[in-house]
Amino acid sequence: MPLIIQKKSLLTVGVIVATASIITAFTSRDNQQPPQHKHNFKVLPQDISRDSLDMIMDHFKAALGVKCGYCHAQSTTNPGHLDFSSDDKPEKEIARKMMVMTNDINQKYMRFNEDSTNQTEAVSCITCHRGDAHPEAKYPADDHHQGPPPGGAPQGPPPGGNPPPGGNGK
Ligand code: HEC
Ligand code: HEC
Repeated sequence: MPLIIQKKSLLTVGVIVATASIITAFTSRDNQQPPQHKHNFKVLPQDISRDSLDMIMDHFKAALGVKCGYCHAQSTTNPGHLDFSSDDKPEKEIARKMMVMTNDINQKYMRFNEDSTNQTEAVSCITCHRGDAHPEAKYPADDHHQGPPPGGAPQGPPPGGNPPPGGNGK
């Protein structure tokens, strides 16, 4: 019976998106109660809008190619749900450091990219992560690239090499 199958999969989908719906409920403009709970924030402003928070979290998720549960711990009281305020997962604390680092990069080194609202967003998580939670230096898996060669890039001119003749020195 196709109808029953459809209902079943709808139910499954419903369970899967249950966590997301909780967020949506908070976001909803016609929600009766204004959000009262205090965020466990060490980096973000306490008065951030739900929409902005959602956007940031979606960016983290996409930038690292992970799910929310990569940084957010399971709830101890509500099995199958994430406790977004919990700091039980070390990845969340690393993410905070990364947020501060990313801010610093933009503020200290990217000011020339400032737009009219004094915002600099030249560098964000995705600049380095590109959908990978582990963007640390990886070299192609062939024998010749076990790590950076001592003394720098092999392709470059030899140290002390002369500039090509005719080039204008600066
Ligand atoms: C890369 C790690 C990371 C990922 C992935 C991530 N988050 Fe977060 N999230 C954080 C950090 C860090 C904070 C706390 C920010 C702070 O301390 O200022 C946070 C805070 C939150 C909060 C506020 C909790 C509170 O204390 O009120 C919510 C809600 C939240 N995240 C939802 C989500 C959702 C939904 C997803 C998936 C779409 C997600 N997060 C994915 C790192 C992450
Ligand atoms: C300048 C480059 C850069 C930027 C920008 C950056 N990261 Fe990272 N991130 C790294 C590198 C490199 C590592 C791996 C560090 C290691 O394990 O040696 C890493 C590791 C992490 C990890 C730990 C992954 C693990 O499981 O060990 C998290 C979580 C993370 N980044 C979140 C973020 C978030 C969230 C942002 C944006 C706010 C961000 N990063 C911005 C370079 C960056």
